[in-house]
Amino acid sequence: MQIREYRDTDNLQWVRCRVLSFLDSAYFDNVLKEKEHYSNDSIELVAVKDDIIVGLIDIEYETVKGTVCYYSNELGGVMWHLAVLPEYRGRGIATSLLNEAIKFLKDKHINKIEAWTRDDKWVNDWYKNRGFNFRKQYLHIYSEGNECSKIIDSKINNLFICNCFAHYLGDDREEIKKKFKRVHECNLYELIF
Ligand SMILES: CC(C)(COP(=O)(O)OP(=O)(O)OC[C@H]1O[C@@H](n2cnc3c(N)ncnc32)[C@H](O)[C@@H]1OP(=O)(O)O)[C@@H](O)C(=O)NCCC(=O)NCCS
Repeated sequence: MQIREYRDTDNLQWVRCRVLSFLDSAYFDNVLKEKEHYSNDSIELVAVKDDIIVGLIDIEYETVKGTVCYYSNELGGVMWHLAVLPEYRGRGIATSLLNEAIKFLKDKHINKIEAWTRDDKWVNDWYKNRGFNFRKQYLHIYSEGNECSKIIDSKINNLFICNCFAHYLGDDREEIKKKFKRVHECNLYELIF
């Protein structure tokens, strides 16, 4: 297995790896049709086995404090994508991708990574087991049909809101969870190295 920088010709395989890797996670319907690109500097690595991309990591990082990270105490990077195909998991591929990215970032005098993730216990454990510390939580709410009217009313005649996605940043998280069928906790982790 080889870890190398992402190339433009990797786009299709990158998208396939990300979509397939997220299918069994709380991000199962967060589908991208093209790889994301960043306005700031970034480290974008892929893990390749038999010419197939089996894992990926993207970290956008700062040259000016507070331009990418949530917390602006020091220069840092945000891990926007981390994924390993299900059949290649548990072999240290994500850990190797993270370690390679950390080596690169240290050379750029970046000593912090932030990562947002939803409520899959196994993924939260992955972060904690690699030294990431929990910093903050808010909620992602997906509402369907009649549930949408709890959030918003249509202002246009005969136009009905069928789906609604919302962020909840308040403190009554347990109440919100009771009101809607699909609510995800979204957790911010921070790794200092
Ligand atoms: C999180 C993820 C990237 C880890 O990839 P990985 O290559 O299996 O990770 P590693 O091999 O480096 O580490 C394996 C660890 O995950 C655990 N693990 C959890 N679920 C696993 C699974 N289905 N298969 C294998 N290992 C699993 C292992 O027990 C091991 O635990 P440890 O922390 O005690 O060492 C991968 O599970 C994934 O793609 N998840 C879906 C996408 C996602 O949620 N991305 C991040 C959030 S945005």
